[in-house]
Amino acid sequence: MPNTKDTFNSIATVYDKINNIISLGRHKNWKSFFISNINFEGEILDIATGTGDIISSIKKIYPNTNCYGIDPSKNMLYIAKQKYKDINFIEGYSEDLPFPDNNFNFITISFGIRNTLSINESLKEIHRILKKNQYLLIMEFSKTENFFLKVFTNLYLFLIIPIIGLLYGKFKEYFYLSSSISNFYTPKEFQKILENNFFNVESINSFNFGLVTIYKAKKI
Ligand SMILES: C[S@@+](CC[C@H](N)C(=O)[O-])C[C@H]1O[C@@H](n2cnc3c(N)ncnc32)[C@H](O)[C@@H]1O
Repeated sequence: MPNTKDTFNSIATVYDKINNIISLGRHKNWKSFFISNINFEGEILDIATGTGDIISSIKKIYPNTNCYGIDPSKNMLYIAKQKYKDINFIEGYSEDLPFPDNNFNFITISFGIRNTLSINESLKEIHRILKKNQYLLIMEFSKTENFFLKVFTNLYLFLIIPIIGLLYGKFKEYFYLSSSISNFYTPKEFQKILENNFFNVESINSFNFGLVTIYKAKKI
């Protein structure tokens, strides 16, 4: 498996631009719906924060919230820190979170859980630092079981996206990202993983013919 930290360090400067192109601008709509699931003020952590899109939008809506973003990629964080001065950005992995037990009111992960080294280790850590009865919100691509959609998605993932990556000199990195998307779980399978890690999944919302899914899960 390629080192995802190197992958994201390598694409940091083009990440936001290519995201807009490959999602045809749709990622902004998914992200606004994602954020609309948050309704509180307190301590919030965005894991796999990347260039800080999600956590900065949360800070705009909830200015009194203490906002943290964590990510292992120095280069992604460098861009986040340049753009958003009022957020605490920390370098680190979801499998080893540098926070005390029962600390956060809300934890978010957008398009990051599939890139972690271990989903179960990450969920164990998230469970530890989240306060009881508080929420973990995850947005991620999903594997489809529909044959026609699978054909179309594979064409898009393994032809269009790598070609766009190639145009920016990042073929290998975008080919890896496409593979990680096509290998991820169906919503049912991922719900089971959350439940096995002591989260109660309260809602599942799907977009783009079920290719993008948002899970809202409460720490039991
Ligand atoms: C596809 S980007 C998502 C960035 C941002 N959350 C967004 O929605 O645009 C995935 C991020 O996951 C980070 N990542 C990879 N492995 C990780 C790990 N083990 N723990 C936390 N973040 C990780 C990468 O560095 C990268 O910034």
